[in-house]
Amino acid sequence: MLICTTVDEVRQQRGKTPGRVALVPTMGALHEGHIALVEQAKQVVDQVFVSIFVNPAQFGPGEDLDRYPRPVEKDLKRCEQAGVSTVFMPAVEQMYPPEQIETLVTVPALTGQLEGAIRPGHFAGVCRVVGKLLNMVQPHYAFFGQKDYQQLCVIRAMVADLAMPVHIRAVATVREADGLAMSSRNAFLDEEQRRRSVGLYKALMQARMMVEQGGEADPAIVEDAMRHVLAAHHLEIDYAVVRHPETLGELDCVEPTLTGGVVALVAARLGSVRLIDNMILGGAGLVP
Ligand code: PAF
Repeated sequence: MLICTTVDEVRQQRGKTPGRVALVPTMGALHEGHIALVEQAKQVVDQVFVSIFVNPAQFGPGEDLDRYPRPVEKDLKRCEQAGVSTVFMPAVEQMYPPEQIETLVTVPALTGQLEGAIRPGHFAGVCRVVGKLLNMVQPHYAFFGQKDYQQLCVIRAMVADLAMPVHIRAVATVREADGLAMSSRNAFLDEEQRRRSVGLYKALMQARMMVEQGGEADPAIVEDAMRHVLAAHHLEIDYAVVRHPETLGELDCVEPTLTGGVVALVAARLGSVRLIDNMILGGAGLVP
């Protein structure tokens, strides 16, 4: 496995790499969810590149940039074991040279709500770094987790609108045994918070049951039920909504069979830890 730390190195390495290439962009602190991205990528391409970069541009003031976990040695070992061919781990100055004039790509129709409303500037930071990484590595495919559902929608829209020559693939969320979605931020949960955190999954399962088995068509009723489950686990709710799976627009009516699914999205806080999760309701249960 090769490790590149500069843009020149990764470009050179990409030039020398035969066959089809996938990029798995990450911020490190790799867990089974990231490894699932690598495994899926290996099914589709010959060589997998992983980027590890904690992107300051997507963190707002007062967010957890400084304490975001950075277990570099462990991450490299996991990549090696997973069969990654190249890891790109640039320093901040490589990605954002101080003399570089900033370019912003925004996807306003998808980012004025949910995570975008709560974390202003977050998606501009994500688009900027993902755009850069895609240009630097020029992969045939890039793999993203369904766990960050709004991010996935935003990246798909950016890639389509800017005609970027890459296929975006989504990979299903990997969960702990009790249903908690794997996330690098789970490491911040204390024992008691960890117990309560399962409320996000339970809220989504409640929504799934109401829609798929109960035929509930009123989004407000489903959203109320999710809020109830989150509150029962003493979670501070940021949102609990049912939305269109591609536009993320509000729905008058939940029509899981007609549209190939709707998406339920939740975000909640446990002390200083903020967790998000989502689930496709109806359809084949897969990301469209
Ligand atoms: O999902 C993440 O880990 C990050 O948002 C990404 C896509 C690697 C960009 O920094």
